[in-house]
Amino acid sequence: MQAKFLNRATDLAKDIIKKVVKKDDIVIDATVGNGNDTLFLCDLVGERGKVYGFDIQELAIKRTEERLKKNGLADRALLINDGHENLSKYVNQKVTAIMFNLGYLPRADHKITTKYETTLEAVKQGIDLLATNGIMTIVIYPGHKEGMEEKEKLLEILSNFSQNVVNVLKMEFINQKNNPPLLVAIERK
Ligand SMILES: C[S@@+](CC[C@H](N)C(=O)[O-])C[C@H]1O[C@@H](n2cnc3c(N)ncnc32)[C@H](O)[C@@H]1O
Repeated sequence: MQAKFLNRATDLAKDIIKKVVKKDDIVIDATVGNGNDTLFLCDLVGERGKVYGFDIQELAIKRTEERLKKNGLADRALLINDGHENLSKYVNQKVTAIMFNLGYLPRADHKITTKYETTLEAVKQGIDLLATNGIMTIVIYPGHKEGMEEKEKLLEILSNFSQNVVNVLKMEFINQKNNPPLLVAIERK
């Protein structure tokens, strides 16, 4: 049976983001994929807000673009077909939120997946771009090999980030089988 509140790490990420992002904000979707989070962010920032969206796959950019167009929200997003490890080349203003949804693109080649080294680089650049009390959410999928490596290495490094700069929270389902997705949320102090 479905639980009412504690089902999916992606929903928990959205719950946190909703509390922080206001109309007119500038935010980042670091992994646009099929565009779920980009659409969600475009809705939150309103007509005068802006969403920077990144993905290494042209297919993901196309799917997201189409999805935004269908919903009349395409003009709120700047979609960039490049890796999030290059965030700071494209974004040079403070942002209130950054969403990462790691892993591979559903309905595409599962071999193309986020990787620990580039994810870590993007997370570091992202923390520098976050405004005070800005939030980063990272959904990690340890159910596949690269995802497990990404989880272990990211958590090890994030747990050593200075608490003077950020608060790092981990939300993990501890009674679910088969390595369920988990959420890491980072608030910039
Ligand atoms: C799980 S999907 C994202 C789902 C998406 N957030 C949504 O709401 O539909 C992960 C995405 O990360 C992308 N990706 C992999 N490496 C990347 C990188 N270095 N920079 C940006 N995106 C990357 C993949 O191409 C894939 O589309």
